[in-house]
Amino acid sequence: MSTASKFPNLPMLGHVRGKRSAVTCALKCDNACAAAVCNTSENNYLRDIVSAELSRRSMLGVGAVGAMTLLLGGTATKATAGPGLSPAAKLSGSLPFSAIAPVPYTVDEFTVPEGYSWEPLIKWGDPIFKKAPAFDINNQSPESQALQFGYNCDYVDILPLDDRNKRAVLVANHEYTNENIMVPPGTDPKVVRGIAMNGHGMSVVELKRSGEGSPWRYIQNSDLNRRITMDTPFTLTGPAAGSALVRTAGDPSGRTVLGTLNNCAGGTTPWGTVLSGEENFQGYFKVGTPTAEQRRYGITSTNPGRGWHLDEPRFDSTVPGYENEANRFGYIVEIDPEDPASTPVKHTAMGRFKHEGANVTIAPDGRVVAYMGDDERFDYLYKFVSRDRYIEGNRAHNKTLLANGDLFVARFTGNSEAEINGTGALPTDGAFDGSGEWLLLTRNGQSVIPGMSIEQVLVFTRLAADLAGATKMDRPEDVEPSPVTGKVYVACTNNSDRGKPGRAPADELNPRTENRDGHIVEITETGNNPTATTFGWNLLLVCGDPAQGDVTYFSGYPVDRVSPISCPDNVAFDKAGNLWISTDGAPSGIGYNDGLFKVTLDGQDRGKVEQFLSVPRDAETCGPIIKDDEGMVFVAVQHPGEDGSWEAPNSLFPYDGTRAPRPSVVQVYRAKKK
Ligand code: FEO
Ligand code: CA
Ligand code: CA
Repeated sequence: MSTASKFPNLPMLGHVRGKRSAVTCALKCDNACAAAVCNTSENNYLRDIVSAELSRRSMLGVGAVGAMTLLLGGTATKATAGPGLSPAAKLSGSLPFSAIAPVPYTVDEFTVPEGYSWEPLIKWGDPIFKKAPAFDINNQSPESQALQFGYNCDYVDILPLDDRNKRAVLVANHEYTNENIMVPPGTDPKVVRGIAMNGHGMSVVELKRSGEGSPWRYIQNSDLNRRITMDTPFTLTGPAAGSALVRTAGDPSGRTVLGTLNNCAGGTTPWGTVLSGEENFQGYFKVGTPTAEQRRYGITSTNPGRGWHLDEPRFDSTVPGYENEANRFGYIVEIDPEDPASTPVKHTAMGRFKHEGANVTIAPDGRVVAYMGDDERFDYLYKFVSRDRYIEGNRAHNKTLLANGDLFVARFTGNSEAEINGTGALPTDGAFDGSGEWLLLTRNGQSVIPGMSIEQVLVFTRLAADLAGATKMDRPEDVEPSPVTGKVYVACTNNSDRGKPGRAPADELNPRTENRDGHIVEITETGNNPTATTFGWNLLLVCGDPAQGDVTYFSGYPVDRVSPISCPDNVAFDKAGNLWISTDGAPSGIGYNDGLFKVTLDGQDRGKVEQFLSVPRDAETCGPIIKDDEGMVFVAVQHPGEDGSWEAPNSLFPYDGTRAPRPSVVQVYRAKKK
């Protein structure tokens, strides 16, 4: 699988490894898996190592805290039941379905259960402003893309605007672009770069419909509609705002950043704003000789960037004055979709890493807690606890809650470690389980990491977490507390390097070497209090396809009666408290297209996995939103047909006659509602 990019300055496409296609590896993650593992730390040993690599740039961040001791800087309705699954004798609830059969990875089809229909809600290129031109794939421009729905939608949520559920606002992330299938060959490379840049970011779009359970329509001319692009100013909040580490020639104050990058998953706050994770930002900057801090984030001299530095010097860290530009990406951003004039923010207090997303819950004492994954092989799970308390109905106050608080990273201990041999065999105590602690990185606005200032901890958070002794995980992605039980679910998507020579071995938390299919961690905070500093944990699922002989674990549920599942990525909950998982990477693992799966958490069926839908060829399933109370499900279909070419597309999703696939938000609903 080797594809030459037809555009200069795009990452090389020849690489493929692990679960990802060559194109996804190159464009989404900047070949992160091909590069050396970023986390070479031995945690507690790291102090000695990094002290020798102290960089001059780190020193720039020295504030009042200890300079001398500073260390670091269509409608295909398929009813076929899955393997081993017989259609349920009686389907109940508002979202009843019989699991679909998994769809082979070569099939270009969006598949939903019998009795359901689907249609796109909004597609890449759809105009979202009055003055926006209709989408014409042969006549695109940077200007038109800035007025249209962006590419590769990932996180999506729909927030109601009225009590009758007939008006709402949709917020979506646009993680990255694939110029090879977006624009016709021969397009001026500068125009291509402009389209790509404006295809990133976020979209806010008002929706309307006739009533609950009916499909939504987007409103092109709503005053709420907004595109967030690389030109949109963001205000930095928190202790690192204004620090020397985030100042550039273009922003000597270090407080205003233009744009947001590689926005992956996210979360909607209890006060109605949307959080978005800046993930693989490392691939957008041309660099010279990387610092130790940059290397820890995967920023290397071989990073090709995406050519954006040819148009804007801020993407070239070798240009004097722009050495710190990359330090201004990798945060959780927050936008207020109800106020199109508001300035979105980047929260430095929540740390800087390859943020997958963030999900917020309110603790009994009113503080808010955000759970966050750093999606990289051998990286960590984080938690943020706000300084201030949530006040019901005080939106202005609540919008400040994520600007100040304490940052923690997780350390896990298994209770059967001696039995873990990397095969995934269940320990004799019948569970992959143990205890854990939340290790402080910052407290009361101060660093608790010896040798690192607060600014350094928040800008070089991975290095602080190394020093704290965090547990290396298999790419923790979405992390979300159940609104029903308070238990926290972590999707560890995979880790092809687990247990390889020189790499961290399998452990009870990550029990398989060369973990191809991923697993789900279930965390119970002590006292069921999200501000606790200790917790218990167990694995809910060890994913794979039992029918193909994979060593799996479904919390004891019979493995011959589950849908095969691989590479869990995003999680969500329905009103009944069931967990829903969307996947990213199943095609090159178990050989099926990615999908959306329901997992029963309680009772005799705990661990039962049932596939609800399957996305088209080469796509990953994002979102998702489960509205079981109104019989609807929403997903973002990201990178359909990614491995194809302009001349020979792998997908024509959503099958609207366009000659190239169009990433889209899809709504699935009971057929009778159409
Ligand atoms: Fe953008 Fe971690 O997936
Ligand atoms: Ca155990
Ligand atoms: Ca993801």
